[in-house]
Amino acid sequence: MLTEQQVKETLNQLQDPFLHRTFEETNAVQEIKIKEEKKHVSVKIALSKTGTGEQLQLQTTIVNALKQAGAESVGLRFTDLSPEELAKFKTESSGESAPLLSPVNQTTFIAVASGKGGVGKSTVSVNLAISLARLGKKVGIIDADIYGFSVPDMMGITKRPVVRGEKIVPVERKGVKVISMGFFVEDNSPVIWRGPMLGKMLNNFFNEVEWGDLDYLVLDLPPGTGDVALDVHTMLPHCKEIIVTTPHPTAAFVAARAGAMALRTEHEILGVIENMSYFESKVTGEKEYVFGKGGGEKLADELQTSLLGKIPLGQPDWNDDDFAPSVYEEDHPTGKIYNEIAQRVIDSI
Ligand SMILES: Nc1ncnc2c1ncn2[C@@H]1O[C@H](COP(=O)(O)OP(=O)(O)OP(=O)(O)O)[C@@H](O)[C@H]1O
Ligand SMILES: [Mg+2]
Repeated sequence: MLTEQQVKETLNQLQDPFLHRTFEETNAVQEIKIKEEKKHVSVKIALSKTGTGEQLQLQTTIVNALKQAGAESVGLRFTDLSPEELAKFKTESSGESAPLLSPVNQTTFIAVASGKGGVGKSTVSVNLAISLARLGKKVGIIDADIYGFSVPDMMGITKRPVVRGEKIVPVERKGVKVISMGFFVEDNSPVIWRGPMLGKMLNNFFNEVEWGDLDYLVLDLPPGTGDVALDVHTMLPHCKEIIVTTPHPTAAFVAARAGAMALRTEHEILGVIENMSYFESKVTGEKEYVFGKGGGEKLADELQTSLLGKIPLGQPDWNDDDFAPSVYEEDHPTGKIYNEIAQRVIDSI
């Protein structure tokens, strides 16, 4: 007859689908009950992540394994591994790189959102990512604006990603790993897709790309509160958000909707960045508030978060030898502001 010890030994050889550790290592087997007369075995298994397709597969594996060991019928329940148990593997795995969407991955996701288009999300995403890298962090950026991709051009990327094994290797530029729909489109032709395919592409960006170990992954979102923003919310429940607005109070009002969406989906808002805040004369040093004033503060107040910084109007200095048209150099006044913002982001996490 099947004993508890045998059941345990059988189960202990199986693996947690996300941690890639045996059930013995993860202490997954939490309960075993055996009804001798009916040869019925019921077990409770703790996983690092429940409610997934992997769990369904595992279910079959477990039932088959127990039947092979002599059970005639199997009752199976799943539960989540305790945070303490999970934490053990988080610290252990920090040396290697866990897949991006794995529950033990330690990457901080930062989505850059806005209520409307053209306020500077992509510019902010790119420069924030580069500043984080300048501060010694391992950083990636996903251009999640599938239709309106712009990150490769802004960073002056001419290379294309290569495929290694089964994975896409992101292009590295200014210390940041980059992936964008723009890499997969010929000659700047438009991307014509329906909603569900957007989600799939985004999923590929997470799962099919060899990101390696990342401290931060910045997501440049498309404008507004549409499909992609929603997909990001569901795919990345722990994603943090930065909301970009222009200084005009009505712009802040629109941006508040993006903020409200973040709050509703329980994404933590890291703060607000006010872009195109003012124009500073190089001659007199005087500041002119061309687009109005106070929008950033107002929005931060409304969302009960902080204003991470104000970026003035002005283009980066172009450097023909190392062309990256939207990237501010480290010693450019705006580059310094981005550096301060990046430091604030690091401190707040
Ligand atoms: N602080 C700034 N000073 C001057 N120009 C800026 C500034 N920030 C952004 N721009 C310019 O404004 C335009 C829009 O910026 P960007 O593409 O970053 O906005 P976006 O919010 O990502 O737009 P979209 O909604 O289309 O994705 C770009 O041409 C960019 O170079
Ligand atoms: Mg953009």
